[in-house]
Amino acid sequence: QLFRLEDYRPSDYLIPQIHLTFRLARDTTTVVADLTVERRAGTEACAPLVLDGDGLKLKRIELDGYGNPAHEATSGKLVLTNLPEARSFRLLIETELDPDRNKALMGLYRSNGVYCTQCEPEGFRRITYFLDRPDILSVYHVRIEAAKAEAPLLLSNGNPVAGGELGDGWHFAEWHDPHPKPSYLFALVAGDLGCLRDSFTTMSGRTVELAIHVEHGKEKLAAYAMDALKRSMKWDEDAFGREYDLDVFNIVAVSDFNMGAMENKGLNIFNDKYVLADEATATDTDFANIEAIIAHEYFHNWTGNRITCRDWFQLCLKEGLTVFRDHEFSADQRSRGVKRIAEVRTLRALQFPEDQGPLAHPVRPRRYREINNFYTATVYEKGSEVVRMLRTILGAETFRSGMELYFERHDGQACTIEDFLKVFEDASGRDLSQFGLWYNQSGTPNLTIKASYEAGTLTLDIEQSVPPTPSESRKRAMHIPLAFGLIGSDGKETGFTAAEGATVENGVIHVRKRSHKLRFHGVPERPVLSLNRGFSAPVTLAIEQRPEDLAFLVGHDSDPFGRWQAFNTLLTDALIAGYRLLLGGKEANYQKDIAKLAGRIATDATLEPAYRALALTLPSEADIARDIGRDIDPDAVLAARSTLSAFIAAANREPFGKLYEELEDRGPFRPDAASAGRRALRNVVLGYLARLEGGADIAERHYRTATNMTDLIAGLGTLAHEHAGSPRTDAALADFAARHATMPLAMDKWFQIQSTTPGTKALETVRALMRHPAFHIDNPNRVRALLGTFSTGNQTGFHRADGTAYAFFADALLEIDGGNPQLSARLATAFRSWRSLEPARQEKARQALVSIAGANSVSVDLRDIVERSLA
Ligand code: ARG
Ligand code: ZN
Repeated sequence: QLFRLEDYRPSDYLIPQIHLTFRLARDTTTVVADLTVERRAGTEACAPLVLDGDGLKLKRIELDGYGNPAHEATSGKLVLTNLPEARSFRLLIETELDPDRNKALMGLYRSNGVYCTQCEPEGFRRITYFLDRPDILSVYHVRIEAAKAEAPLLLSNGNPVAGGELGDGWHFAEWHDPHPKPSYLFALVAGDLGCLRDSFTTMSGRTVELAIHVEHGKEKLAAYAMDALKRSMKWDEDAFGREYDLDVFNIVAVSDFNMGAMENKGLNIFNDKYVLADEATATDTDFANIEAIIAHEYFHNWTGNRITCRDWFQLCLKEGLTVFRDHEFSADQRSRGVKRIAEVRTLRALQFPEDQGPLAHPVRPRRYREINNFYTATVYEKGSEVVRMLRTILGAETFRSGMELYFERHDGQACTIEDFLKVFEDASGRDLSQFGLWYNQSGTPNLTIKASYEAGTLTLDIEQSVPPTPSESRKRAMHIPLAFGLIGSDGKETGFTAAEGATVENGVIHVRKRSHKLRFHGVPERPVLSLNRGFSAPVTLAIEQRPEDLAFLVGHDSDPFGRWQAFNTLLTDALIAGYRLLLGGKEANYQKDIAKLAGRIATDATLEPAYRALALTLPSEADIARDIGRDIDPDAVLAARSTLSAFIAAANREPFGKLYEELEDRGPFRPDAASAGRRALRNVVLGYLARLEGGADIAERHYRTATNMTDLIAGLGTLAHEHAGSPRTDAALADFAARHATMPLAMDKWFQIQSTTPGTKALETVRALMRHPAFHIDNPNRVRALLGTFSTGNQTGFHRADGTAYAFFADALLEIDGGNPQLSARLATAFRSWRSLEPARQEKARQALVSIAGANSVSVDLRDIVERSLA
């Protein structure tokens, strides 16, 4: 079935209240839903009530206390007819579930012995028949009954209101959530878990009890998450004036989870990967992710929960905005410049390929067959960029008053993107209709810019174009805020007296037409251009800049992103030139200047270590492939990259060696951004040193002497990737597995390191690891660690020329699809850029996709991705 935005229509009935009773047992859990149903004003009395279901078994139904009203029930729908004349009536529905057999991890399931739920977007209908759509807001009262031995802990949304014994070793708890909410925010958790407690006093002086529930024995591993939670609560008060609105806030970590985490009202449920951390088990990246995701889910309390989405087409209303908020939070907690560079790298790595391939869709899609397939980088990350541009265009102050208006006007409502844009129009008095195209038009805009300077006048010829994307061939011109700087030969910003041809305000060029001839008058000398500062717009730029100008920017741009971008452009240009030489049967060779520049950045003590680490990280093979764009040969990409890395290492042997020694962590472990930045720089330097003679010794010593997971993984990864199959690598891998056998999150890293070892041999490794006793196909983290990283993080392994990895992967997808369609569909997106490969690989990839499409039973989820990829 195809769902279309323009088909939205309010439902005939409302459900202002729901009282749920769960009797939890592993294979037969009963759920009694007591609904207060209200006919909407204007609905005819004879209108049927059509409730959503998914795989449900109806056990009992009563209407206003009378059994068996006129109804028709299938596993996917419950239709009631001949309803009472009265505006409002009570409907009681009993269903029976089997949480143990729920491998799709949607609805009510058991993870590691813990009952838990995932209802977004359409999981509630796997629990009971309901109007399972986000514009139906209900007050929930939930009673949970369970055997005390199995589930001493009973949680749901809102505040706890009752609890006690039931006899026979059973007990119960009742929860009441006073805030009306859509069904996707419902949650229940029951099990035997340990707990870390704390409290937070809100800005108005209320005390909130905080708890993070984790597996027994892992309580200490929740300390960092708890700290991040308290910082998030404080930050949302300071930055957006948002206060928490319940007496308790619970977080539960579970080990089987399809996504990162879920913002259920007052009861966030997390993939344990984003809660549990200490120096022995988590890397610095894990710590940063935990901080960001704890914040993200907490921020949803206002952007998502208090103000929710009218329908799933509006998903970006809550996700784009909340990602923007968590980005700002992390920027304030860490280094803003470094954070921005990391965000842009993620956007380019995950969203650009989506926008440039067959799965492209607008930030607010207009069509879907399976909404689960739209929890994408476009909705989340590009959605966040759109909010950022809004702030750039309006200015921080006006943006903030628009947000105030949003919270004031729409609290308690289910809204649309139009509602969101309107508050900013009202707050600013501006017309944002052209800006609104960012939500509705897919594809990454390109700006082609030609610059010339003559007699005090700088002229920029700017052309914008938006490439065609599936079902959108003709595009309208967009409003692109392009932040810029003109830098003089002394390294300082030079001014101009007037600009004509486009609006220029506060360091931003407003590109609104297909082409602009923009003239800056009164520019004293030919300036070096810094364009798209801070990555003010998610676009690609085509501009010829001389290498010496780029090198100048590396040293002088006051914008950290601009400096990083300039060096990254130099690296990318060099890599692509090397790649072309290799394809032509020659050797890749590189200019001395680039190695010198790398050495200068590495040792520039005025720069933050974290920044230096990012700058010195070569574009990934996938980055390079994306910038080449077509006819890609992944083996040549890898060769070009390895050669450049070795070239830079050879030219900087001495300073890199010194830096490596200097940066050694002494003293107790600290997870803060500055300490993490030093480790990051040292580990990037390690990667270079490992390319030189004796490199294996350094990597091995790094591994043996590591005192935290970040360094351990850096050592092991370097050994495994540069010296695959050597006895010392095998010994280190065995050592790691022995040390971490009981910590699944650490074992995920062990699987990942092996699946991402470059080269054709990886396929055999991955096949063997699928038969490893620690590989569990029902556990999404493990599947992603082995198969997800193989397909997206191992260009030469996955895209091996004979196509056997594609065929293997297609079979694996079908196997996963039998239990967890959401996961198989997500993994299948690894094929999305298949058309940019060289022809032979393209054909093999196409065959693999066709084989999935032709298989016997393919889920709606997987079929949707495969068919769009082939279209
Ligand atoms: N709303 C969650 C978040 O962004 C994501 C949950 C999506 N779940 C899913 N099954 N599609 O934090
Ligand atoms: Zn979210």
